[in-house]
Amino acid sequence: MCGIVGYVGQQKAASIIVEALRRLEYRGYDSAGVAVLQDGGIAFAKKAGRVEVMAKVAAQRHFTGTTGIGHTRWATHGGVTDANAHPHISSDGKFALIHNGVIENYSQIKKFLLTKGYTFLSETDTEVLCNLVAYHYAKEIADNNGHNRLLESVRKALRHVEGTYGIAVLCVDFPGEMVAARKASPLILGVGDGEYLLASDASALISRTRNVVYLKDGELVHVTTANFSIITLDQADVSPVVDRITWSIADAELNGYGTFMEKEIFEQPQALENTMRGRFAEDGSTAQFGGLNLSAAEFRQVDRLAFCACGTAWHACLVAEHLIERFARLPVEVDYASEFRYRNSPLDRRTLFFVMSQSGETIDTLGALREAKRTGYRVLAINNVVGSSIAREADGGIYQHVGPEIGVASTKAFTSQLLLGAMVALYLGRLRDMSFNDGVQYVEALKGVPDLVRQILKGAPHIQAVAKRYAKATDFLFLGRLSLFPIALEGALKLKEISYIHAEGYPAAEIKHGPIALITDKCPSVFLVPKGEIFNKIVSSMQEIKARKGPVIAIATEGSELPPGLADEVIRIPDCHEAVLPIVASIPVQLLSYYIALERGCDVDKPRNLAKSVTVE
Ligand code: F6R
Repeated sequence: MCGIVGYVGQQKAASIIVEALRRLEYRGYDSAGVAVLQDGGIAFAKKAGRVEVMAKVAAQRHFTGTTGIGHTRWATHGGVTDANAHPHISSDGKFALIHNGVIENYSQIKKFLLTKGYTFLSETDTEVLCNLVAYHYAKEIADNNGHNRLLESVRKALRHVEGTYGIAVLCVDFPGEMVAARKASPLILGVGDGEYLLASDASALISRTRNVVYLKDGELVHVTTANFSIITLDQADVSPVVDRITWSIADAELNGYGTFMEKEIFEQPQALENTMRGRFAEDGSTAQFGGLNLSAAEFRQVDRLAFCACGTAWHACLVAEHLIERFARLPVEVDYASEFRYRNSPLDRRTLFFVMSQSGETIDTLGALREAKRTGYRVLAINNVVGSSIAREADGGIYQHVGPEIGVASTKAFTSQLLLGAMVALYLGRLRDMSFNDGVQYVEALKGVPDLVRQILKGAPHIQAVAKRYAKATDFLFLGRLSLFPIALEGALKLKEISYIHAEGYPAAEIKHGPIALITDKCPSVFLVPKGEIFNKIVSSMQEIKARKGPVIAIATEGSELPPGLADEVIRIPDCHEAVLPIVASIPVQLLSYYIALERGCDVDKPRNLAKSVTVE
């Protein structure tokens, strides 16, 4: 949600931090701030609004300090105001702190601190934590127990905190030092050339270093200009592991595209190739995965699967359910991660548990993973971000390998999740009763997906023209059946999140049970129309809409003969294997939403109220 940056080195910190915040802005964009240690105090700038608004203020203040922190906010506690923006400064003026997460017991702590004379300028839980650090620091001086007082006061404060946090703290008495800590909120330390950077996301630090340490929950890092050390909340020393980021700065840049969403839609052929690379068996009849940590014999013991995810990733799980049940004949249950955690659902002993998450940091999905593990299940993760919390805590998993996804609305990560769901269905199917020949055909179909996607992307101008004609609608229905029902849900989600048009996804036959009441000539329906056994049924649903003067947009496979005049607009997709149809159908749905949002003048990369990677419950 929020983005966090820290810098300790020899350069002027503020400009490096502002540049990193620009790269992190997709994580939260309602306010931003920067603070540096200089002239024995804390100099800072913070403003409601986008990073650029704050950057202008910061530029006028000519910050010179070489140690600093910065933040982009997605509001949880308190409205979007300058006062609520981070960094927060303790009322004694000694500490600056940035925070991602929620301090659940902040009101009790605040009451206590008020009795001790601390004062507050904002409505945030973060300012409470900042003053709690100051309180422990004052006590620490009195205790004088020989530890680093900055580190100790942060550690002690955190022991009283309930909730989640990724924080970075500066203290005027420790120029050239910073302490950071995390619990259920990502934090990465970049180890640069004579400098250290801290960030909630690798894209913020990759321009300065690719060597990183992924901090774990319950760890605190103490950074100085010369070195860094990590301890746990219980003061145990941690030996750091330095990893190397495999993607490059170019992957996190627009490279000539107008928006990240457009770039990510158009780079899907390559992304899908990367997802598949090296993942087919030599005999060409099945998939293979390196990191599942489960043998074929163990997979044979599985008689049920459970999937948990949120949002778009949840839609990908619904498609996986369809394909696994269809091709591997195994029952699958899909749950919203946020519901699963609190639902006390009975899971069978031989259930294999999957979570899906692009970011690997979504707190609800992480919570579902932990809940499943707590009850003794083996949990596998389908995840894009290497080193993420979910990747680290799962028992095994499959990386998506699509590079950084920066557009807030998920596109390439979604189709890659669809692809991996199809590959898992193939793998499980071939362990059960799918024939060699069927397996070979399936593999060939998957290998052909990138070209099918390329073909559809060539038709983008036609989809843009359709989008222009319907961009003023206030309601939309997206309708599909079987494996395309989740794509209808995804279409509705994509459209509403980036264009703010009310949209709903339904199984096409369900419209007559309620949603048809919405139909007027102002409410278009997007139908996903594959050839095959349900074609005639979908055509009947289209007739029902047409009879009520509802505009009909058909996304139909080539060769399907729609009755003349039934659809107002037809967008063609190639006829293809059932396992790849959801991927192929997703592309026009993404483009339609994208061009409608563009036509309405919306900021597609940073839609209102949203943020990438939801790290609060
Ligand atoms: C919508 C979107 C969100 C995410 C959801 C889960 O376009 O991106 O619905 O899919 O927040 O995120 P991850 O996959 O990171 O767990």
